[in-house]
Amino acid sequence: MGNLVSPEELLCQAEYMKKCEDILKSNFSNRQPICYVHSYGCQGNVADGEKIKGMLAQMGYGLSNSAEGADVVIFNTCAIRENAHDRVYGNLGMLIHYKKKNPEMIIGLCGCMVQQDHVAKKIKDVFPGVNLVFGTHVIHKLPEFMYNILSGSKKVYNIVDSDGVIAEGLPVVRESKFKASVPISYGCNNFCTYCIVPYVKGRERSRSFDSIYNEVKELVDSGYKEIMLLGQNVNSYGNDLDSGVNFSYLLSKINEINGDFRVRFMTSHPKDATKELIDTIANCDKVCNHLHLPVQCGSDKILKAMNRKYTVSQYLDIVDYAKKKIPDISFTSDIIVGFPGEIYSDFQETLKLIKEVKYSSLFMFIFSPRKGTKAELMYDPIPKEEKSKWLTELINCQNEISAEVHANCVGKIERVLFDGIGRTDDNMLTGRTDTNLVVDCKRANLKIGEFADVRIIKAHRMALIGELV
Ligand code: SAH
Ligand code: SF4
Ligand code: F3S
Repeated sequence: MGNLVSPEELLCQAEYMKKCEDILKSNFSNRQPICYVHSYGCQGNVADGEKIKGMLAQMGYGLSNSAEGADVVIFNTCAIRENAHDRVYGNLGMLIHYKKKNPEMIIGLCGCMVQQDHVAKKIKDVFPGVNLVFGTHVIHKLPEFMYNILSGSKKVYNIVDSDGVIAEGLPVVRESKFKASVPISYGCNNFCTYCIVPYVKGRERSRSFDSIYNEVKELVDSGYKEIMLLGQNVNSYGNDLDSGVNFSYLLSKINEINGDFRVRFMTSHPKDATKELIDTIANCDKVCNHLHLPVQCGSDKILKAMNRKYTVSQYLDIVDYAKKKIPDISFTSDIIVGFPGEIYSDFQETLKLIKEVKYSSLFMFIFSPRKGTKAELMYDPIPKEEKSKWLTELINCQNEISAEVHANCVGKIERVLFDGIGRTDDNMLTGRTDTNLVVDCKRANLKIGEFADVRIIKAHRMALIGELV
């Protein structure tokens, strides 16, 4: 198992939380101090943000939905593409403005972006108003950092280079009362040549089977209806454990937990997606019939340059097997357009592939060079405008496919977990099918956070319309 943070260290941090609470009680005698935590990027980062909120709440902070007027603001950042950086810098400008009105405001930055040396240096040089900068491997030490600041330090910078740790049992404030994310592994060992994640999140390390199982069981027992198991590559779960458990085993054991709930997972790396995994999905009634299987590109030449370690034909083999075993399965994927060395004919192979798989939806990105990755230094002659044209072509092609996938659902009965108010109409609720398609339905007797069977009566390009049966 990866490096577990010791119980002594966790106890020490719990004591810092208590000390912070005492300081806050005397500093804020007539009101509760409030904090605002915002996580950018992937669901793993959001899960880290829930722990940051948990620790701050335990210190006595109330949680706010807005940075304005907050006593502590923490941005948990993402580094996956340049626009993720730009967003943080933009919002930081706004925070500095708030800080002019409230000089006591504590501004903290953490997450993947600040784990990079060049960013940490830039923050130091350009944003002196930032009090606290901490990297991805020391999140559990937030109480100590907060204590240092509350007891007078103007600045705390703590970014350590590490293969990564696992901190169990941190307090957590979950965003939802019925959907919960449960990380099963942290970090990544795959080093896809475009990707910053292995550099900022450390090596892949799996949580123990027991910690995951117990967390899921507790969530289900307290009424959670959807559990999302998270990892950069859930399919390699357990490779670093001595216990011999793998992801399929974990899924099948979670499936045996009593209760009315469903299980999702992401991300499934195609190189490690096995027939055993597909059989497990097919055999486990609580595991959703949806596979997010990022292909990135439809050209073998580019997949090799990306270091993805599968070919298009191997990818299609597993897709075909899944379609045979689970006829209603839906697929989603990530695509990078304009990887260095990709020419228009490579891109056309991507179009061919998406037409064959028929994804219900796609996340599509233009390649963004990341500092320190192999792809950053690769020869990349295609201009940005050309890549944008390819992206538009891809979006248009996928729109047609999405429309077709959704249209094929009309007439079916689907079990939907409703999770919010309709995006365009307050009289509707919106939810998702087992296959992860969006369904809007008249409110009637429906409740947010509950399952209902609905008949699909109409299909839009990106969503279905249903009626209660
Ligand atoms: N672990 C997941 C991906 C996590 S990052 C996997 O292997 O599939 C989410 C997505 O961001 C990736 O699938 C990829 O499509 C995209 N991405 C990552 N780095 C990128 C970069 N440098 N430029 C553009 N897109 C990138
Ligand atoms: Fe990045 Fe590849 Fe790891 Fe996914 S598998 S996080 S794309 S290096
Ligand atoms: Fe972004 Fe870090 Fe996730 S770079 S996508 S927040 S792992």
